Amino acid sequence: MGDIEDLAARIRVCTLCRLHEGRTRAVPGEGPRDAKLFLVGEAPGRHEDEVGRPFVGAAGKVLDAALVTAGLTRGDVFITNVVKCRPPENRRPRADEIAACRPYLVAQVHAVRPGALVALGDTAVTGLLGPAADLSTARGSLPRFEGIPVVATYHPAATLYNRGL
Ligand code: URA
Repeated sequence: MGDIEDLAARIRVCTLCRLHEGRTRAVPGEGPRDAKLFLVGEAPGRHEDEVGRPFVGAAGKVLDAALVTAGLTRGDVFITNVVKCRPPENRRPRADEIAACRPYLVAQVHAVRPGALVALGDTAVTGLLGPAADLSTARGSLPRFEGIPVVATYHPAATLYNRGL
């Protein structure tokens, strides 16, 4: 499906599902094209939709802090979402929206060829591994997507609602 910039250009004008109708900007994702680590979130929120970049709101602050704790910065990782356009009222993406957007995610993984994927939350787990997968099973079991290990963990926003996570 092409290189990472071609994909981003196609995502920005995509009309494959209903989510394009309400977006301000699509959010293709960003990071080095040779990143070793590839992070997958759920969907853009309000701030992301406004600026066209992933994880720039409150969840992004949690993510940035977690990266620092891991000895990483944004510049070290590729970050994207299962769906590239903001769902209305930040509802969870629907199965048909995830399916419509999935070829972009798969093509991004193929373009970057990371050593590991990090699935941030349940939608990322099912978006990568399919509808039968779930976060609680994937967490700690290191499933694989096309041979690439998938580290499944909580979505950064979940830790804002439940500090115990
Ligand atoms: N939550 C996500 O899953 N992705 C973003 O880009 C922002 C918030």
